[in-house]
Amino acid sequence: VDAPACYEADERPPLPHRPWLALNMVTSLDGATAVAQASAGLSGPADKAIFFALRAVADVILVGAGTARDEDYGPPRVAAALQAGRRARGQSDRPRLAVVSSRLDLDPGARMFGDPGLRPIILTVADAPADRRAALEPVADLVEAGVGQLDAGAMLDALHALGTGVVVCEGGPVLNGHLLVADVVDELCLTTAPILAGGPSTRLVVGPAVDPARGMRLDRLLEEDGILFHRYLRER
Ligand SMILES: NC(=O)c1ccc[n+]([C@@H]2O[C@H](COP(=O)([O-])OP(=O)(O)OC[C@H]3O[C@@H](n4cnc5c(N)ncnc54)[C@H](OP(=O)(O)O)[C@@H]3O)[C@@H](O)[C@H]2O)c1
Repeated sequence: VDAPACYEADERPPLPHRPWLALNMVTSLDGATAVAQASAGLSGPADKAIFFALRAVADVILVGAGTARDEDYGPPRVAAALQAGRRARGQSDRPRLAVVSSRLDLDPGARMFGDPGLRPIILTVADAPADRRAALEPVADLVEAGVGQLDAGAMLDALHALGTGVVVCEGGPVLNGHLLVADVVDELCLTTAPILAGGPSTRLVVGPAVDPARGMRLDRLLEEDGILFHRYLRER
């Protein structure tokens, strides 16, 4: 399977009122989403190939502040070979990074702020600390989408207003919980690594139970070296 071609060919029909949202996550067989506070211990070359294939279809890569910090996010890169496809779809050469945070406890010197040509978006709240806002304004575009906490619908409305068609969310579990409550996960790309990790790691989603549980339909299942790559679509 040619991963980029496969994920590039998938349909992500534009929604009239908000972007399409694909959630991409990796877990162990026993449901761990991190080993020693990072997902690297769960990932490998095949997972990375699909991770980058998905990034190549995104207008915006959405992450929670916890993930951006723990995984030391940098400016998104897309292989030159995949940029022609992006241009053909009317997309810019690279997706933008959007980080969700109400406390704004992000270091302006962090790697993700290192490319002035691709400033991250920070989705935040109207009552975010003024000193943190002032520290980050020189390196990022701050967009307010709520008070106290961001509602996932409001986050997507804000991205829609910026012309975003496809959002690829890379977690983490707390942000995923907000997405699940708002029922905005259209696609789940879930990698299961063939290991039992144990430990205190959280599940894929942290947050309140949702009722009814969100039904998902299996669209595709790929395998390499015992690693499973599921693609589920929301059954609406
Ligand atoms: N296995 C995988 O695929 C995968 C993927 C991603 C992450 N991870 C792992 O997950 C861990 C991090 O998990 P996490 O759940 O703490 O991370 P997270 O969801 O990335 O970050 C949580 C933080 O994001 C902000 N946030 C999220 N939703 C918000 C909302 N609706 N409104 C306002 N702020 C919001 C808050 O930041 P502020 O506190 O700054 O306001 C919150 O503390 C790391 O160990 C990482 O390695 C694993």
